[in-house]
Amino acid sequence: MADQRYCFIVEWYDQFAQLVRPYQLMFYSRDNSVEMFDIKNHRIFLKRTKLDGLKLENLYVGATVDLFSRQITFVDYGDEFTRNCLSQQKERTLGIIKPDAMNKVGQILDTIFQSGFKVTKMKMCQLTRNEAFEFYQEHQGKVFFDKLISFMTSGPVLAFELMGVDAVGKWREMIGPTDSSEARKVAPSSLRSRFGKDNTENACHGSDGVASAARELEFFFPSVGPVRRNTAKCSECTCCVIKPHAVQGGNAGKIISAIMEAGFEVSAIEMFHMEKANAEEFYEVYKGVVQEYNSMVLELTSGPCIALEVRAQNAPTAFREMSGPADPEIARHLRPRTLRALFGQDKVKNAVHCTDLPEDGLLEVEYFFKVLDR
Ligand code: RTP
Ligand code: MG
Repeated sequence: MADQRYCFIVEWYDQFAQLVRPYQLMFYSRDNSVEMFDIKNHRIFLKRTKLDGLKLENLYVGATVDLFSRQITFVDYGDEFTRNCLSQQKERTLGIIKPDAMNKVGQILDTIFQSGFKVTKMKMCQLTRNEAFEFYQEHQGKVFFDKLISFMTSGPVLAFELMGVDAVGKWREMIGPTDSSEARKVAPSSLRSRFGKDNTENACHGSDGVASAARELEFFFPSVGPVRRNTAKCSECTCCVIKPHAVQGGNAGKIISAIMEAGFEVSAIEMFHMEKANAEEFYEVYKGVVQEYNSMVLELTSGPCIALEVRAQNAPTAFREMSGPADPEIARHLRPRTLRALFGQDKVKNAVHCTDLPEDGLLEVEYFFKVLDR
């Protein structure tokens, strides 16, 4: 492989100095090495160093990456070569699972995860009429507009950002023609063929171009100003966190399907990139108690995780049962149908977090959906 040099502008928040420090980061594709240059102080900050865990696919504008236990945020491309090369490879689009298909959200997500798309943002929202109006402004005045607005506000939706080569076109191909019956004829394996009903209730949305993708992504994931409301109900609930290794391994859709098939309501879904300070705070009760505390913090910050509000009677206890023993090896022996038995690797990479104390279920939901989602 040619030794390609990619350059990014990155930032690191120095907690002690309470300063955001900007760097130039060079990534060399031949040997997975990085080099960092301190922009403010005009000096080399990190000599070229090999980092086996680092992959080009995880470096994009907006990404947060762990480097030597510092969390580095990628804020921009550092040169035109990198911008030209990567903005094509890392095209973004907005996808939505519409209200009619939210009962199949796990299956649809699984199809997406298996298809090689990178899911970089995700949030379950309930649109108001005004919000649906704004989102579909281009269709105002069309005959189907009122029907579309009623449909899109009839229940929660899941909005997500997909990234990859030709993401806009590939995602539209994957969902298929607007009319679900047409899709069943010409694109039988498409999502609208599999999950849609007709030409309005058609399971999924995809932006129709790079410009509308940018506008629609900004609608659901605004870069400035207040965030969209999430759908957490904060009652009779507990928090499930699908850990980064399980998200990276493409198992999030299967985990959500399994939870819903077991009869739980999944009433809020959101992807988070946890900062170390937040992971430490979230796991505070385990500090000094559980031997794996430090590794647990490291795992939770190693990539995006997906937090769920899971609802049922006695949700914390019932969901803990479904998660199974913390050690997947033990789970596979004693409780082979539990989430950790099915999707866990070891005591740290054990697929899902669930609370140990019933009274913490609500607090953990609130931590993700009220404290972190601001
Ligand atoms: P495209 O952008 O290529 O037109 O495709 P699309 O699937 O996004 O469909 P679009 O025409 O943009 O319409 C947006 C959504 O409105 C609903 N619709 N209902 N005749 C009807 O009842 C009708 N036509 C459209 C669908 O939910 C569609 O996805
Ligand atoms: Mg459209």
